[in-house]
Amino acid sequence: MKIAILGAGMLGTDLINTCQQADDEIQVFKRPEFDICKQSELETAIENCEVLVNCSAYTQVDKAEEESEIAFEVNEHAVRNMAEICAQKNIYLIHISTDFVFNGEKTGPYTELDAAEAINVYGASKLAGENAILASDAEAAILRVQWSYGKAADNFVSKITELASSRDEISVVNDQFGCPTATTEIARAIRLLASKRATGIIHYAAEGSVSRYEFAKEIVEILNLGCTVLPCDSSKFLAPAKRPANSVFDCSLYDTYDSAKRKHWKTMLSDYLESI
Ligand SMILES: NC(=O)c1ccc[n+]([C@@H]2O[C@H](COP(=O)([O-])OP(=O)(O)OC[C@H]3O[C@@H](n4cnc5c(N)ncnc54)[C@H](OP(=O)(O)O)[C@@H]3O)[C@@H](O)[C@H]2O)c1
Repeated sequence: MKIAILGAGMLGTDLINTCQQADDEIQVFKRPEFDICKQSELETAIENCEVLVNCSAYTQVDKAEEESEIAFEVNEHAVRNMAEICAQKNIYLIHISTDFVFNGEKTGPYTELDAAEAINVYGASKLAGENAILASDAEAAILRVQWSYGKAADNFVSKITELASSRDEISVVNDQFGCPTATTEIARAIRLLASKRATGIIHYAAEGSVSRYEFAKEIVEILNLGCTVLPCDSSKFLAPAKRPANSVFDCSLYDTYDSAKRKHWKTMLSDYLESI
């Protein structure tokens, strides 16, 4: 596949590695040389590929509450331009989105048909980006992912590992539920969906679901860190941006594209911790 990848953050880095291993012809566009908000740079990046994967985004969830203009510039306006260029040039697009487009109030897993209502500014900017793509004529898939972790950036797994290595006791919220997913597996899913030219919104995550507290306990146990993990509720860690209580995805639509069974979050986590 001839793929252009926008952004080399946590997910972008694993996607680059996955594509290189698969002998794809890839081009990578990343900061500081590339800014998705600059029309001419976007046009140059898109000019010479068959598939465009957008892994770039404004991802600072708390800061977005104060920087909504930048969040919308990157996550909505640039994405609208990107989709329009893809439509004009007949380029297939995979755009990455998030569970934060939901308010987390649903009982049970979220499907692609559930109404989105963002819980914070970051989520609203990502939802606006999704809507801009859906309103365009681009042949596009919007892959929603959640609770991701990978080697290229700080994430929940690295933070818990660091804290639990230096303390006897840590408190972790037990009122937020999700499906922790390794970015290496998301990268694999992106390639698979690209090979099938899937379109529309698609949810992807590890099998199973867990609270942040149970997830942290599993990390500490696998790494044998000897730290006690205590449950607490979200009011103990008030952050500028609200987080959804329920981020769990129904991934049955994704499963219709992939004959391999999605790994359980526990297997993904232990594979990941073994690999680092
Ligand atoms: N991490 C998660 O748990 C999670 C959960 C749900 C959805 N997602 C989605 O997954 C996708 C990938 O995120 P990630 O986890 O890989 O986050 P990340 O590590 O923050 O990667 C985002 C990348 O976008 C780049 N970027 C920001 N503004 C840009 C601009 N104006 N022009 C070009 N590049 C720009 C950043 O560059 P710098 O490195 O220079 O800042 C960074 O490399 C995003 O769409 C995100 O919304 C992530």
